[in-house]
Amino acid sequence: DKPYVFITRRMPEDIVARLEASCRVSMWEYEETPVSQDRLEEEIKQADALFCNVSDQIDVDMLNQAQYLKVIATMAVGYNNIDIQAAADKGIQVAHTPDVLTETTADLTFALLMAAARRLPEGIDIIKNNEWGAWAPFFLTGLDIHHARIGIIGMGRIGEAVARRASGFNMDIMYNSRSPKPDVEKSLGASYADMDELLTTCDFVCVQTPYTKETHHLIDEGALQKMKEDAVLINTSRGAVVDEMALYEALKSGEIRAAGLDVFEKEPIGADHPLLTLSNVTALPHIGSASEETRQKMAEMTADHILEALRGETVSNQVV
Ligand code: GLV
Ligand code: GLV
Repeated sequence: DKPYVFITRRMPEDIVARLEASCRVSMWEYEETPVSQDRLEEEIKQADALFCNVSDQIDVDMLNQAQYLKVIATMAVGYNNIDIQAAADKGIQVAHTPDVLTETTADLTFALLMAAARRLPEGIDIIKNNEWGAWAPFFLTGLDIHHARIGIIGMGRIGEAVARRASGFNMDIMYNSRSPKPDVEKSLGASYADMDELLTTCDFVCVQTPYTKETHHLIDEGALQKMKEDAVLINTSRGAVVDEMALYEALKSGEIRAAGLDVFEKEPIGADHPLLTLSNVTALPHIGSASEETRQKMAEMTADHILEALRGETVSNQVV
């Protein structure tokens, strides 16, 4: 009997075909709507392999029902939506897609940084609403990016790729990370700083850390108070690394200048979210790795992880 794979979101035919060569495959049929909880719970009881993504919560109760499951392959680098410990306890492999999305996500991080600094969303709105009056000397003036100081929190693969871009803009690069990165210091002239120094002196603070218990609300009211009044916060990692209500207050009261956010504590964010009422917020719908080429490669890798595990191998990008 062929192993059974469940895919939690509609995938292109070539991805399904890759799996169907050696597996029975069933798939949630919609591309834009997440799988229903009922269907996911039902499928996980039967599946040998699960092809999932950042919008699926895979918790311990669900894993306790998963009698046949050998692998959970998520089409993402972040895996905070999966109970890794419970999977490990049950001998279920978990695979993710690092590396392939590093440069694409760093591109988006920089795009967001530049958009927030130079007030692109406000400019776009003004022109589309036909509100562009005469040229004015201080109209839509923003912040310089070149020669400013960037503070990268979490110098992993993506943090380093952001630092490389910052270096091209002649930025002064600071970082904070669990461990110092002498290579990055040497190649990019980045300097290690403790959180206090980074927060108090950087013009741009970029959050590039995974979401864990330790990084929950890492950027809270206290951290925001330490930041410069002209500082810009950029978050392309996970929403809950930032305390959103504290951020709202800080942006509203002018404690910091602006924010560029690709991720939120609850996604989708909903049009009535307070952050969206602020003109100094540049918001994007979690599209960090969303280039055509990268998403295709992520889907292929995810399928390949499943095939590896079902052949009895260790997956090539193993979380646990
Ligand atoms: C997306 O957020 C990812 O973790 O790949
Ligand atoms: C995150 O885990 C990264 O790739 O930086």
